[in-house]
Formats: sequence, structure tokens, C-alpha cells
Amino acid sequence: MKFSCNYFVYIVYVYINYNKKVQKVKFGFFYGTNTGVTEIVSEQLAEVLKENKIEVDLFDIASTPLEKLKDYSYLIIGTPTWNDGELQDDWEEVFTAWCKFDFTGKKVGFVGTGDQEAYCDNYLDAIGRMAKPVRENGGEIFGRWPSDGYVHKHSLGQDSDGMWVGLAIDNDNQEELTEDRINKWVKQIKIELGI
Ligand SMILES: Cc1cc2nc3c(=O)[nH]c(=O)nc-3n(C[C@H](O)[C@H](O)[C@H](O)COP(=O)(O)O)c2cc1C
Repeated sequence: MKFSCNYFVYIVYVYINYNKKVQKVKFGFFYGTNTGVTEIVSEQLAEVLKENKIEVDLFDIASTPLEKLKDYSYLIIGTPTWNDGELQDDWEEVFTAWCKFDFTGKKVGFVGTGDQEAYCDNYLDAIGRMAKPVRENGGEIFGRWPSDGYVHKHSLGQDSDGMWVGLAIDNDNQEELTEDRINKWVKQIKIELGI
């Protein structure tokens, strides 16, 4: 009798863990763009996620209410930086609400686009500006990225240890590296998130 009770507990344990493993991760990927670069990069990245059998819904924040973020536990945020360290226009419009958003339980990855040469003191500032409220409001950042191979001088998009808060893209100067960076980032987040 004791044996069968333990056995039952064991079966329930195995079942719960099996279900955890097969539960599919689906990313809500929200991007903003002024001149289309971040849209192209976001589409490329979404394609690579799909090739890796990872589900993703892609939204332009210009035509999507911020509330839509609530539908996803796993978020990817794509944004360029504009005007010497400022946010992209559509992200700027929702930024007050973004700063109040409850990110509790959400894992958030960033993809930033910018120009590290012409804007070397503000390259990718926007991802740093946007990551701050995520951390302050209960979210967890994934997909931080090493800063080797970039020539900028200063950025709010870097943590104190020098890592970018997300994937750093520069199609103005290093477009030839974008595909490889995206592929490596997807490999990295698969390991990091165990998906
Ligand atoms: C007027 C202007 C200001 C810019 N300011 C910045 C900046 O402060 N930091 C940065 O990294 N890139 C800056 N950029 C570069 C853009 O962020 C980059 O071209 C980006 O890929 C554009 O993305 P989008 O087409 O999705 O809007 C600026 C570009 C222009 C034309």
C-alpha cells in the first residue's frame, strides 16, 4: 500500500515536469520604427525564431495598444534610438504608460538598432531607457549581449559590466554582421531560457 502511494506521487511528479517541458514558449515581439530598419531586423529575427520552431507574434507598436503586452510572458522589444539618445516616435508616445506597466513575471529581451559611429555617445540609448522600467517594475531581462566589436564611446544601453541590455544591431555601419548576430542571439536565448 505504502509503495503504491509513493508510486502515485512519483507519477504525478513526472507528469507535472513533463508538462512543464512541453509547454510551448510564445514570444510577443513588439517593435517601433521610424524609417523601417527595425522592422526589417525584427522580421529577420522573427524568421530565425520560427526556423528554430519557436512561436512568435510580431507587432508594430504604432498600430498595437500597449495593453497587448499583457498577453505574453515572454516579450521581445525592438527599437532604434533617435535624435541623440531619444526614443523612437511610437515608443515615445506610450513611454509614460510603459514606465507604469507591471512587468512582474515577464521575461523581456531587447533588440536595438542604431548608428555607433555618427551617434557614438548615444548608440542604442533607447534600449537602456526602456529596460530601466522593466527592471524596476518586476521584469527579468534576458539576452544581454557582449559589447566586443562595437566602436561607440558611450551608451545608456550598456549595463555597468559593459554588456548590452539586448541584441545590438547597427545596419548603418555593420549590416553584414546582422544575420550572424541574430543567429547567435537566438542560439544564446534558447540556452538561457531553456527553450
Ligand atoms: C537624425 C538622426 C538621429 C539619430 N540618433 C541616433 C542616436 O542617438 N543613437 C543611435 O544609436 N542611432 C541614432 N540614429 C540612427 C538610427 O537609430 C538608425 O539609423 C536606425 O537603424 C533607424 O531605425 P528605424 O529605421 O527603425 O527608425 C539616428 C539617425 C538619424 C537620422
